[in-house]
Amino acid sequence: MEEDLRLAEEAEALAEQAEDSRALYEVKMQYLGRTGKVTALMKRMKDLAQELRPAFGKKVNALREKLESLFAAREEKLKEKELAARLAGERIDVTEPGRKLQKGALHPVTRVKNELIDVFAGMGFEVFEGPEIETDYYNFTALNTPADHPARDMQDTFYVADGILLRTQTSAGQIRLMEKKKPPIKMLSPGRVFRSDDDATHSPMFHQMEGLVVDKGITLCDLQGMLDEFARKVFAETSKTRLRPSYFPFTEPSVEVDVSCAACGGKGCSLCKGTGWIEVLGAGMVNRRVLENCGVDPDVYTGFAFGMGIERIAMLKYGINNIKLLTENDTRFLEQFK
Ligand code: PHE
Repeated sequence: MEEDLRLAEEAEALAEQAEDSRALYEVKMQYLGRTGKVTALMKRMKDLAQELRPAFGKKVNALREKLESLFAAREEKLKEKELAARLAGERIDVTEPGRKLQKGALHPVTRVKNELIDVFAGMGFEVFEGPEIETDYYNFTALNTPADHPARDMQDTFYVADGILLRTQTSAGQIRLMEKKKPPIKMLSPGRVFRSDDDATHSPMFHQMEGLVVDKGITLCDLQGMLDEFARKVFAETSKTRLRPSYFPFTEPSVEVDVSCAACGGKGCSLCKGTGWIEVLGAGMVNRRVLENCGVDPDVYTGFAFGMGIERIAMLKYGINNIKLLTENDTRFLEQFK
């Protein structure tokens, strides 16, 4: 039975050496597990003479109890140590300042779009948005630009499928609205348009703001009056507009609208190339063919329409010299609009 004592000493030494509770568990299993050394001792009982058994059993049980409390004590110590280490490792410094959220700002195109909506909403215009993928009919044919019309070359079109295209102009929305709503109409239609065009002032995707007014007795003077108001609100209090003859298939007469240069007040500078005027948008009286295509009687109603490039207005307002800056998302550029 001296063996028992040795077992206990041996187990105690190993338990002391165990560096963590996992290692300790392993040692414990070596002695008290199902195939452990103490369990093996117990199994030897049946080989003993009957009268020796009770004493032997007692001894082994005492040994087992001793080892159990030894392991339990050691385990408690190790667990305490481990918890302390974990708490130290996971310590959170609640006094450390939080991460600051970067404050964003509206993109210049969004700012100008919102500003234009504000200005025209103040004059009673309602916003209408048409689809970006259009049919040939809405983008061209109904706008008095049938297939083979030379004016189709004015805008290089991205076709998606036969007769389906990425709209080249928000003018397509004029037709969609007039099919739904009878005059009086005062529509403002912002949106993305697409043309195969790419240089410092042209981008294959850009934004337009379309305007359409149809009612009895609408004249070109109404157009210019509204555009004057727009120029004063968006550019400068002293801004003026001038109309130059132009051509669009869906307007007759058609005009190109210039706004007096806000940079030099009309005296002439590098921005306006010395002319004192800056071309800002296209417009005109709605062609009677377009009204007819939408079931509006051109002998009763007249109207005007205009379309402006939102990027172009943003570039003029903020002195941006390359349209690409508006799509590159360089925060050094965008931060200037906070
Ligand atoms: N849709 C024309 C363009 O994209 C602009 C325009 C709109 C002209 C409405 C006249 C009337 O160039």
